[in-house]
Amino acid sequence: MDNRRKQLITLLSQKDNQYISGQVLSNELQISRSAVWKHMKELEKDGYIIEAVTRKGYRIVKHPDKISGNTLQWGLETNWLGQSLTFEEQTESTQTIAHQLAQQGAIHGSVVVADEQLEGRGRLNRPWHSEKGSGIWMSMILRPEIQPHKAPQLTLLTAVAIVETLKKVCKIEPKIKWPNDIFIHDRKLAGILTEMQAETDQIQYVIIGLGLNVNHRSDDLPEALQNIASSIHIETGKQWPRAHIIQRFLVELEGLYEHFIQHGFAKIKEMWLANAYKIGEQITVHTRNKAWEGILLGIQDDGALRVEEVENKEQHILYSAEIEWHKRRDEE
Ligand code: BTN
Repeated sequence: MDNRRKQLITLLSQKDNQYISGQVLSNELQISRSAVWKHMKELEKDGYIIEAVTRKGYRIVKHPDKISGNTLQWGLETNWLGQSLTFEEQTESTQTIAHQLAQQGAIHGSVVVADEQLEGRGRLNRPWHSEKGSGIWMSMILRPEIQPHKAPQLTLLTAVAIVETLKKVCKIEPKIKWPNDIFIHDRKLAGILTEMQAETDQIQYVIIGLGLNVNHRSDDLPEALQNIASSIHIETGKQWPRAHIIQRFLVELEGLYEHFIQHGFAKIKEMWLANAYKIGEQITVHTRNKAWEGILLGIQDDGALRVEEVENKEQHILYSAEIEWHKRRDEE
């Protein structure tokens, strides 16, 4: 990886759409102006569209659609999350790779990204459709020094990081369905899969997997998903550079994670509630072999779900359950 090119992307990305003169770039990078120009040509090979205007300088017009080790790391403004990065064009599942890397001692904050997964998996071993070139399929290896029972809070924290990223970058307002789904207009946009290796009182590592539908058109989705899943493209009508979304998401997640480790879950809980789906509405709760009707009240200080049973007004605190809600009549 060429460090100068990484610095160059960082400088240009910070200025979001504004020009930076060749002279400023050459001073910052301590290279000649013709070397700056040569780097720009290399970046174009990686799919960046760069505009050069006399007397104004350079600016990035478009980040590449293509994801690669380079496009993911150039311009990544995190301190530690994703600084160790593995990119696979095609893999079974980034979760599997991340587990292998973690067992081999991969550092806290290592990230695995794939362009395509052949056996992407979701919660409860459900398959996760992960076709080539259109989504974000990634897993993060974390080694938090927290009690194992707090690990599910990391799922909620990740959900907040996704929603905040998509609000800022794509100007959409998805909502969080407890514990691990991101929905928009009653369709699933993203899912989180948290897996952990731990002893009774100590976590060895946590792997957080994220699947986010980005540039899928409706008919790119398998028929069975067409009425229940969405993508950022379907919502906005635009193509989105995945590398840029991943970078912004990693910055968001790193910030929230650091806050969580230093100050606990309280602020994340507030942010989660502010972005939660269907609070106060009636849902069906599936626990083990039972299904019952409840009103979604919110979450506890530790992230567990609070539901009031409709039949007897009893309050339940749920650590694992599937929830399902009723479509409003006008949505059917
Ligand atoms: C769910 O909603 O059930 C969770 C879906 C998680 C999918 C992601 S895609 C990247 C990572 N690798 C996998 O095999 N799964 C997760």
